[in-house]
Amino acid sequence: MEDAVKLRILTLRDLDAVTEIDYSLLGKKRREYWATRLEIIETSGVPSLAAEINGEIIGFILGSASGWEYGIPENVAWIDTIGVKKEYQRRGIARLLFNEMVSMFKKVGVDTVYVFVNWRDLDLLQFFEKMGFKKGEMINLELRI
Ligand SMILES: CC(C)(COP(=O)(O)OP(=O)(O)OC[C@H]1O[C@@H](n2cnc3c(N)ncnc32)[C@H](O)[C@@H]1OP(=O)(O)O)[C@@H](O)C(=O)NCCC(=O)NCCS
Repeated sequence: MEDAVKLRILTLRDLDAVTEIDYSLLGKKRREYWATRLEIIETSGVPSLAAEINGEIIGFILGSASGWEYGIPENVAWIDTIGVKKEYQRRGIARLLFNEMVSMFKKVGVDTVYVFVNWRDLDLLQFFEKMGFKKGEMINLELRI
């Protein structure tokens, strides 16, 4: 499987494909949301990535390593989103995307990666645990207004 998968940089031209994958995973069409997200990935410090098979996008990862933002130190990066089409899951695609992003993070001096996961998203939790993530030092504070 891995041989057939090509990783490349994700761009705004992938808006339709990303919107469809997100829709198939979460059941909501969020084209405008993804348009905004894909517009800003070029300022994320590292490229976001698409995984393709035969020219079709089957997964993607968005990450950011913009050290200057919000006073966050330069050694810290974030995985913002990762998604793989249902019919291609459990074949190592997310692992491939993740490993490539980590190697790009390392090249820009990152040594710690953060990710926010809803505790109900078991697939994501189990995936990130498998990639070596542990519960971090930060806690999520929330105020309803
Ligand atoms: C989490 C997700 C990205 C994993 O993608 P994937 O390509 O299937 O992951 P991989 O095949 O690379 O998995 C690597 C390892 O992670 C673990 N893992 C991945 N998905 C898992 C799951 N659903 N349950 C348990 N473990 C899982 C396994 O240990 C797996 O290795 P194995 O298959 O050899 O056991 C995918 O399930 C997904 O896209 N879920 C929806 C995420 C979402 O809602 N994103 C926001 C919208 S875009």
